[in-house]
Amino acid sequence: MNPFALVAFLVLLVLYVLRELRAYRALGEFGGPATASFSRLWLGKAIYSGKMNLHFGRVNEQYGDTARIGPRLLLTRDPALIRKMNAVRSPYTRAEWYNSLRLHPTRDNIVSFRDETIHNKLRTQMSHGYSGKENMYLEHDIDERLLQVLGLIRSKYVSTDTEYRPMDLARVTTFFTLDVISTIAFGKSFGFLVTDEDPFDYLKQLHVFLPAIMLFSVFPDVQKIMRLPLIQRLAPQATDVTGLGKIMGFARDVVGERFGVDKVVRKDMLGSFITHGLSREQLESETITQITAGSDSTATSIRMTLFLITSNASIYSTLMNELTTAHEENRLTRPILRDTESRTLPYLQACIREGLRIYPPVTGLLAKEVPPQGDVIDGRFVPGGTSIGWNSWGIMRLKRVFGQDVDVFRPERWLPGGGQSKEQIDNMEEVVMLAFGYGRFGCLGKPVALMELNKTIAEVSLPSFSLILRYQDN
Ligand code: HEM
Ligand SMILES: *[C@@H]1O[C@H](CO)[C@@H](O)[C@H](O)[C@H]1NC(C)=O
Ligand SMILES: *[C@@H]1O[C@H](CO)[C@@H](O)[C@H](O)[C@H]1NC(C)=O
Repeated sequence: MNPFALVAFLVLLVLYVLRELRAYRALGEFGGPATASFSRLWLGKAIYSGKMNLHFGRVNEQYGDTARIGPRLLLTRDPALIRKMNAVRSPYTRAEWYNSLRLHPTRDNIVSFRDETIHNKLRTQMSHGYSGKENMYLEHDIDERLLQVLGLIRSKYVSTDTEYRPMDLARVTTFFTLDVISTIAFGKSFGFLVTDEDPFDYLKQLHVFLPAIMLFSVFPDVQKIMRLPLIQRLAPQATDVTGLGKIMGFARDVVGERFGVDKVVRKDMLGSFITHGLSREQLESETITQITAGSDSTATSIRMTLFLITSNASIYSTLMNELTTAHEENRLTRPILRDTESRTLPYLQACIREGLRIYPPVTGLLAKEVPPQGDVIDGRFVPGGTSIGWNSWGIMRLKRVFGQDVDVFRPERWLPGGGQSKEQIDNMEEVVMLAFGYGRFGCLGKPVALMELNKTIAEVSLPSFSLILRYQDN
């Protein structure tokens, strides 16, 4: 071997070891799994296990509210630190973790831009469409899809004396949220509920994609490989007939209709984005983001909450009683209750909050980066460039916030007399809403998601409807 090459190699090796050693020592004051201080092995294993949430939960339980899970990566369940990193004037930025959320082969989107100036501008432009203020059809669109899903269940999944017709709640809730988001995003439903199927294999592909995204997110080198032109050609394309590519094609067509001579003008989300100056290219990639950000998360929360409510006879009948009484006193609009009416139902609200707490749908790291000058966390110095991921599972199981029985689904904890004081309940409300992120990076679709949850949980549990479901159980 050329001696110069050998020397150069050795010098590089020494520099690399020194760099790693410095990183190792820099975060040395934070506890964590042994291998995590010098490798991403622990993290890779945690993600690969499919039970990342549980591993994360245990790490902070064992090593404190902020622990180390990688050479330059911390994991926190401290609500105060999360608010600080996400606050409007905070110098923290999105860490490299966010690169993995670039779904479009060549374009970044609102969730993947790491430059805060670009992200913030886009966020301001899009906030109007998401808030519902510039989207006249929001509630109406949700109602229509809800009627459709209830109709589907009635016509296809009600068992009779002679026939047992089980329904896969997981699939149907996903179909529902996909049709809702496509309707409110561009005035056209994907039609999952019409066919009651996954016609272009979107869900099938998602089962492969989502775990892959999780893995990419913690291995930046894999991200780089994914950006090679050869690999990019394998990425979803708008001309695909299946999966995400099909959705991209759908987005391209719908966006196309809003431009040109015979353009369609509609006062919906897409219309609002156009009013606020998004370009055609931006619209195409943002529409895909909307679909992916807004469907699986909301579906998870609806199905888990329904599952938890119906798994406990006492909780189920308490909710039924609340709804029956409101219904008998004519406090609920039929066929679908108004969003404002759902707020007058305290037990329903308690069930929704408790569902978000027990099963926060977004458990990925969403890592933010410490600003160049570094920061002091719990009295310990953290160098600039360190990533800090959030542990939503751990946050929602903080005993000092939610009480001792954090692992139990108990809506009563949100109500007076349920063991928590008024001040504690106020604090719980603030902490549980962290499930939607916070501040500069907080979920733009939160009003949409909450409206879907409020209406769906109520309608599916309403007496007239539940009678049918109960019959099915027997
Ligand atoms: C229960 C349902 C939902 C949950 C728990 C949830 C949670 C979250 C979380 C944790 C974030 C990221 C915060 C961060 O990066 O720090 C986020 C971002 C986002 N969500 Fe949601 N989400 C839900 C439903 C929706 C829906 C229905 C939509 C669309 C209508 C949506 C659109 C978005 C968008 C656009 C962002 C990016 C905001 C930004 O980058 O500034 N989400 N969401
Ligand atoms: C739906 O429920 C949430 C949480 O329980 C509540 O805060 C909210 O006001 C309700 N309505 C909407 C539109 O979010
Ligand atoms: C059912 O729910 C009630 C009320 O929240 C709770 O007290 C009880 O422990 C739950 N039962 C089970 C088996 O979890």
